[in-house]
Order: sequence, then C-alpha cells, then structure tokens
Amino acid sequence: MKTIMICGSRRNNGNTNAILKEFDKQLSSEKIPGYKNKCYNVARMNIHPCKSCLSCAKKDKCVVRDDFQKIADKMLKSDLIILGSPVYFSDVSASLKAFIDRTFSLWHKKMLKGKKVILIATCAESGTGHTIDTMRHFAREHEMDIIGTIEGISEEKGKVLKNEMTVKAIQDIVRSCN
Ligand SMILES: Cc1cc2nc3c(=O)[nH]c(=O)nc-3n(C[C@H](O)[C@H](O)[C@H](O)COP(=O)(O)O)c2cc1C
Repeated sequence: MKTIMICGSRRNNGNTNAILKEFDKQLSSEKIPGYKNKCYNVARMNIHPCKSCLSCAKKDKCVVRDDFQKIADKMLKSDLIILGSPVYFSDVSASLKAFIDRTFSLWHKKMLKGKKVILIATCAESGTGHTIDTMRHFAREHEMDIIGTIEGISEEKGKVLKNEMTVKAIQDIVRSCN
C-alpha cells in the first residue's frame, strides 16, 4: 500500500509529526503488503496559494511552478493519503490550506476519487472538530474514502502520544487498513 503523509506543521518534533510517525510505525509493523511511505511537510516547502487563474480546468494541471506538483504526482500514485494539521484558530494551518486549495487542479476530473484518506488535527485545548470538518470537506469534494480521523490534544510539544486513547485510536485505524 503506497502511502503519502502530508504535514501542515512547521514545528520540529511537534504533535502532528508525532502522530504521523506513530502511523508510520504501526503501518510498518502491521506488515501491510507493499507498504511504502513518503512524508512531506508543506509548511517547510514552497507552496503558493491558489491564484484562481482556472487554467487547471483546461490543462488538468496546476500552472504555478513550485513544490506542489511534486506532491500531487506522489499523491496520484498513492493508495492512502494521511493529512495532518495543527489547529490554528480552530482550523487547519495556512500552509495546509494553501496545499488543499491547490488540489483544485486534481478536482475537475476527480483524480483522487476512491483514494483512502486519514485526517489528523492536533490542538492544545479545543478546535479539532472544526479543523477536521475543513479536511472532511476537502476529502468529500474529491470523493475520497475517509477511513479514520484522529483528534490529538497536547499543550506540550510532541507529547500528544502520552494520551493512550490517541494511540489506541491510531491502532484501530491501522488494523482496518489490513
Ligand atoms: C497560530 C496558532 C493558533 C493556534 N490556535 C489554537 C486553537 O484555536 N486551539 C487550540 O487548542 N490550540 C491552538 N494552537 C495550539 C496548537 O494547535 C497546538 O500547540 C498543537 O499541538 C500544535 O501542533 P504541532 O506541534 O504539530 O505544531 C494554536 C497555535 C498557533 C501557533
């Protein structure tokens, strides 16, 4: 199962990253046939906001030249997409939103249709519901198959896995992948 992870947090060793790493660890140990994973951090890449030129409606490709196309190509070859964001004012980070908007280029011909997707939001206190909802709209618009959602809570950087319920929720989703 070819997997791509997309992280929207700029923090080194942060909570979103910790959850993504745990998914990778568990998916590897579950011995899922052909499991291969590539992780991209959109907050550390050069991804401009959508400029609404609508060229993609004719060309089926985004005409903006930056790092987006690299991720898009990888996503098209993947069976599972794991999307993770920190909660910023009860929503996804600006970096992840810019990435989501750029996938408009894949939406016209529903190029992501049927791909499995896992949605992750991490907060200090609250706001994961609205954040997951933003991601859910993205996945539904692309007619993807949402196989699980994770809402992590931690004030401390990278300590989100101290919560056993979060680790168990990851395990449950991973088991359903096999
Ligand atoms: C700009 C900004 C806005 C934030 N807004 C919220 C919020 O609305 N609710 C919340 O509980 N935490 C909020 N936080 C805290 C982060 O969501 C929290 O620390 C999260 O674990 C960060 O994930 P990361 O370590 O993967 O970056 C905010 C942090 C920043 C920097």
